[in-house]
Formats: sequence, C-alpha cells, structure tokens
Amino acid sequence: MSFDVAEVHFLTDNAPQITAATADLALSKKSMISDIAALRDTFGDQGRAVAELAGARRSVAGKLPQEWLLCHDSAQQTTPMAVSAERARRLKEALGEGVLVHDVTCSIGTEGHAVLDAGLHYLGSDIDMPRLLMAQFNLSLHPSSAASGGKPELLQADALVPATTGADVIIADPARRNNGRRITDPAQLLPPLPSLLETWSSTPIAVKCAPGVDFSGWQGLVSLASVDGGVKEACLYSPQLAQGETREAVVIRGDHLDCLNDLLEDGGGESLAREPGDFIIDPDGAIVRAGLVRHYAIREGLWMLDDRIAYLTGNRIPEGTSGFRFLEEVPLKKLKSALAALKAGSVEILVRGVDVDPDQLRKKLQLKGSAPFAVVVTRIGSRGVALICGPREFSSAATL
Ligand SMILES: C[S@@+](CC[C@H](N)C(=O)[O-])C[C@H]1O[C@@H](n2cnc3c(N)ncnc32)[C@H](O)[C@@H]1O
Repeated sequence: MSFDVAEVHFLTDNAPQITAATADLALSKKSMISDIAALRDTFGDQGRAVAELAGARRSVAGKLPQEWLLCHDSAQQTTPMAVSAERARRLKEALGEGVLVHDVTCSIGTEGHAVLDAGLHYLGSDIDMPRLLMAQFNLSLHPSSAASGGKPELLQADALVPATTGADVIIADPARRNNGRRITDPAQLLPPLPSLLETWSSTPIAVKCAPGVDFSGWQGLVSLASVDGGVKEACLYSPQLAQGETREAVVIRGDHLDCLNDLLEDGGGESLAREPGDFIIDPDGAIVRAGLVRHYAIREGLWMLDDRIAYLTGNRIPEGTSGFRFLEEVPLKKLKSALAALKAGSVEILVRGVDVDPDQLRKKLQLKGSAPFAVVVTRIGSRGVALICGPREFSSAATL
C-alpha cells in the first residue's frame, strides 16, 4: 500500500498531531480495525493513511527515525542506514570531498541522509511524486537542511531520461518487487537494470541489486552487504569507484562493521582443508556470496573442512561473529544415537554440500533430553558427515 499526493500533503501538514495520536495505538493485526476506526474519528477520511503511516513507522522502529514519512511499500524497500552510510563513505573516498551524488531512484530519501551525513552534495529524483514529497519531508529533517535553511534538491524524473548533467556519480536502486511479486530478471526491474546502465554509461554508477543476481559479467566492483546475518544487497560499482578490488563483503552486526575484498591473500590454488579445530565457523552470507571464504579464512587464521564447501574451522571465533565448539564427527546414520547418548534436547542444524532437509532431520532425531547442541551436516571429501558441536557461541565483541 502507498499514499497519493493529497495524503502525503495531509501527513506533512499534520505531522505533530499524527505522532501524538498514534503513539499509544497497538497497531496489531487484532487491533487494526478498531485503531483505524479511532483514527477516522480524529482524522476523517485520512484515517487510513494515518494508520498506514503509523504501521510503517512501527515496522522500521530502531532502524529509521520515527518522525520520517513512509508508507508500507517504501518502508520495505528502504536501505539499512548502516549500508547506505558505508556506500557514501566509499563514494567520498573514491571521488573526494564536495562531489555531487545523483540518486535517480531516491524514494523517501534514505540514501540522501547518508550522502549528506558524509558531507557530499545530494540530488534526488524519482518517478513517483508521493515518494518525492516524503523524501522532501524526510530530508528537510537532516541537520544540513536545517542549518542552511534550504530545501532539499529533489526533482521528479524518469531514471532512464537523464534530467540533469554534471553529477559526479549516480546511485540507483531499482525496485525488486511489483504488486507484491518478487522480480528476479534484471531486465524486469523498475527501472530495468540494462537500460539504467546504458543511460548512465558515461558517469560512475553504484547500482543496488538483489544479492542473487548474476553479476559475473560486471567489470567493476561487486559489493555484497549483510546486516545481522541477512544478506541485503549486491551493489555494482563502476571501476572508478574501487581501488582495484572486484569483490567485497560488507558485514554489519550491530555497531560492528567488517569489510574484506579480493585484494586479500587467498592462498592461491593451495588446499586449505585440514582436520577440524576447536570451533566450526559458518562464514557470513555476504562473504560466501562474494566468493571470499578463502580470503576470510586466511585473514582470520582459520582453515577449511573441505576446499569446496564454505564451512571454516579454527581455534577461535573471529571477533564480532559466532561459532560452534566442535565435539565429535559421526556418520549421518549414527547421528540420532550419538545425540541421544549426549541427552540432547534441542539442536541447531546447519547443512551445506549434502541433500538434507534440516526440518525433516530434526523430526527424525526425536530428541528427548534437555541439553542444547548444534550439528553441522556437510561433506568432507566423499564422506557425508555430521559434526556434533556445542550450542552457538559468540565472540566477546559479537552483538547478535
Ligand atoms: C527500491 S526503491 C528505492 C529505495 C531507496 N533507495 C531507499 O533506500 O529507500 C525504488 C524506487 O524507484 C522508483 N522508480 C521506479 N521506476 C523508476 C523510474 N523509471 N525512474 C525513476 N524512479 C523509478 C520507485 O518509485 C521507487 O521509489
């Protein structure tokens, strides 16, 4: 759901009253009908829009400032602030101070906040007028707007028809959903990725894509970003925006940010596989998808269980992450009896490299004890194995 122009004007003009009227509403599935009825009493026909705003704000609590204007759809599409901050940092590092960043799919202005925070100049455009009006409101809350007394630089434009020249870099974030359906074909994104790249071919560009997109043909940098264990995006950067690296993982957990790239040592063709150490480590999805498992292993003093499978092992858990204390290796067929002997009551199951469904396996195990364990089901060489481990442990700096 979204807003029309009149609704955004109403929400903008009545922002303080709306914040006050919605602060104590439950806004749960159960209460939604009575909440909307109460809001209609106060705000008349605009009660629905007010309820949507309040629900969207609730959905991003702790992630975005609560005074921002946003609808359900734009809330779902918004970039995590730590990811846009890291992108702005990269643009500043690559292009220098004072450059102009044109965000051609600006939506509600999330990237704009990060760009302004980094001290860069920002121009936002979007094809959708209600989104632009929300961006105008949200960007006017940025300290730099308040300090200059100026209006944010925004315009309505199709990203495939360059409306301005002179930007030093383009940011684009094509929509990956249409009417609730996920779009996987880059040519079907809104706007389509190939047309976007053609339109801005003479300007450095950073384009956000779904993490699963086939980026093997991209000549520049592909940066995979994850937040608290979930891979959020693959951003394609033009070569001018990188320092020679072509793959990067940006791993954000709470306040902890880790960046690694393919300029790190990866051990060449040498095997990194050895016997399990004290801990089994499941590297972050951004590292796996960026193809940086070997680089990460070497940097952290870890090694692999099998060169072709993305599980690592070592005698410590890397800072800011989690791992599992290794207890024993058993053939898959013996897992049930081994866990019974340990009086296991619950088990976190990780599977990679073998065709095992964790939910079905959990049912088959019929655990009756009380102790928590983890099991890593994988392949080492030609053996399908189960590595029985203690429950997930966090390094001292981990914040999950
Ligand atoms: C995924 S959202 C962008 C989210 C934004 N980067 C953020 O972090 O909040 C995609 C945006 O692209 C806009 N859009 C879709 N087609 C467009 C086009 N041809 N030109 C400009 N904007 C377009 C949509 O209106 C929507 O606001």
